Amino acid sequence: MSESSVLVALRGVSFAYEDGPAVLNGLDFEVREGRALALLGRNGSGKTTLMRLLSGGLRPHAGVVTVDGTPVSYDRKGLTRLRTSVQLVVQDPDDQLFAASVAQDVSFGPLNLGLPDAEVRARVEEALTALDVARLADRPTHLLSYGQRKRTAIAGAVAMRPRVLILDEPTAGLDPDGQERLLATLDGLRAGGTTVVMATHDVDLALRWADDAALLTPSGVRTGPAAENLARAELLRAAGLRLPWGVAAAALLRGQGLLDGSTTGPRTAEELAALTTGRTGGRD
Ligand SMILES: Nc1ncnc2c1ncn2[C@@H]1O[C@H](COP(=O)(O)OP(=O)(O)OP(=O)(O)O)[C@@H](O)[C@H]1O
Ligand SMILES: [Mg+2]
Repeated sequence: MSESSVLVALRGVSFAYEDGPAVLNGLDFEVREGRALALLGRNGSGKTTLMRLLSGGLRPHAGVVTVDGTPVSYDRKGLTRLRTSVQLVVQDPDDQLFAASVAQDVSFGPLNLGLPDAEVRARVEEALTALDVARLADRPTHLLSYGQRKRTAIAGAVAMRPRVLILDEPTAGLDPDGQERLLATLDGLRAGGTTVVMATHDVDLALRWADDAALLTPSGVRTGPAAENLARAELLRAAGLRLPWGVAAAALLRGQGLLDGSTTGPRTAEELAALTTGRTGGRD
């Protein structure tokens, strides 16, 4: 695998909320171009804080945030530069949506960049289509379902055409079909060149979706290939997470002699079926 370049990074970043203890301490964290990155950790471990630091919503008390290796400056120009590169979608869409209609909400960011009307229209249309909410364009956001509001909030970020799209627990509250559709949408965005980072508690989803997994533990963040990090029982325990079922299934299969040591374990039910029947695709 070729080394992908570092798009955004935290270098030695520390942060504490007012009157609170340190949430992050001397943290090093990198978002690499083109790599799907899952950020995992227990409640209160600092996932949301880390994401807000990456997207410029919070400013580190020590250390620097870099874009393409250049430290971010927290003046108007520097923050605009950061926000055109990195877009954060917060967990609760109601914290993000505020305009009267879906289309107005999605056009807010591009309008704010001072782009020409035609460019704004093109971006809004593209984002509404990518998130499958085009037919809801004129609907008031408060009349949408939770899943629709979530997709609209993501569309707002996508309309900024960021290089890095950061999603805070994007699948929380979505039904299984909604989760699948969202993953398909993210695949489409990734194919178009967007780097995607997601915070999640769902180790199975992370194993299936992510190239890399970053686990927040009390002794710092551990980033590495998802298949490796999410199979390390002691690391998962330190991060307050359980073993993905695919990793547990792989251990069982190895115990039964059905899987050799070098073969990667299943990540989905289909992969498990293929492994246990010795076939790689198709069903009778
Ligand atoms: N606005 C705030 N003011 C003060 N403390 C905060 C604030 N937001 C978060 N914290 C504290 O910072 C720590 C990290 O919180 P953060 O929201 O980053 O965790 P998280 O990993 O996103 O958790 P969750 O899985 O519950 O979303 C927690 O101890 C939390 O109580
Ligand atoms: Mg959070």
